[in-house]
Amino acid sequence: MNILLEAVGLNKKFNGNTTVLNNVCLKIRRGGIAALIGESGGGKTTLCRVFTGLEKASSGKVLFKGKELGTLRGRSFDDCASLQYIFQDPYAALEEESTVSSVLQEPVNMCSRRGRDYMPPQEALTWAGLAGAAFLGRKIKTLSGGQRQRVSLARSLITRPDLIIADECTAMLDAQAAAEIGRIFKKLNQKLGLSFLIVTHDAQFLYQVVDYIYVLHEGAIVEAGPKDRVLNIPSAGYTREYMESMWEIEGGGLIEQDHLCQPQ
Ligand SMILES: Nc1ncnc2c1ncn2[C@@H]1O[C@H](COP(=O)(O)OP(=O)(O)O)[C@@H](O)[C@H]1O
Ligand SMILES: [Mg+2]
Repeated sequence: MNILLEAVGLNKKFNGNTTVLNNVCLKIRRGGIAALIGESGGGKTTLCRVFTGLEKASSGKVLFKGKELGTLRGRSFDDCASLQYIFQDPYAALEEESTVSSVLQEPVNMCSRRGRDYMPPQEALTWAGLAGAAFLGRKIKTLSGGQRQRVSLARSLITRPDLIIADECTAMLDAQAAAEIGRIFKKLNQKLGLSFLIVTHDAQFLYQVVDYIYVLHEGAIVEAGPKDRVLNIPSAGYTREYMESMWEIEGGGLIEQDHLCQPQ
């Protein structure tokens, strides 16, 4: 199996005492779409930040394409370009006064300077479901939350990454905008072979987008497996609790679980 990203015994303590990540081991295969689920405060964002180099692990290793990665400062441009991160808040991630064109031009310029192949902005926007030259001239402040998140996605595509880490990137969107992002992720996975690690509380993502699920509880991975298995026959008590609470929030039972869990 071709492993893209691997966490090997990651531990993280803040301020030298509180344990936030406890011996986390995780693997994302090339071409995979994995979900990371679990309670709020369980350490999901911290883990994503360690993967992207924004946070330093207290111990353990992050391997990307077999090579150990340090924090952002120690990473090569190619490592950063290949591993992209989409943030939760589409309103904080982009400058209000910038145009879509200038947001997308920035990674183009970085790639040009370093001789890295890049995706033209128009193409990235098309993948993100924002086709049409008119979008390039739009100011960020004129866009909806869903459109902003798709601009963030387009920006992350410019460097032609291998993996995108999306941390609750649909949490602030309405159901329709969130579903659209899910369809785009799936298409990027199927057509470009792009891999994803998606932090989500959205049942639709779990049933329709991802193929593998990691469950993080109090900083430790308590369950991991193909989504059909984890969703239909969760082995950890915590996963069952989590799924039940998710169904209560979602209005429960609206999705035929067995039907949607057929291998795609
Ligand atoms: N910079 C930080 N300093 C101290 N504690 C932090 C910091 N960042 C996160 N934490 C703590 O780590 C725990 C996990 O947070 P987080 O990774 O954001 O969880 P999740 O994304 O699963 O909600 C929380 O208790 C949070 O308060
Ligand atoms: Mg979080």
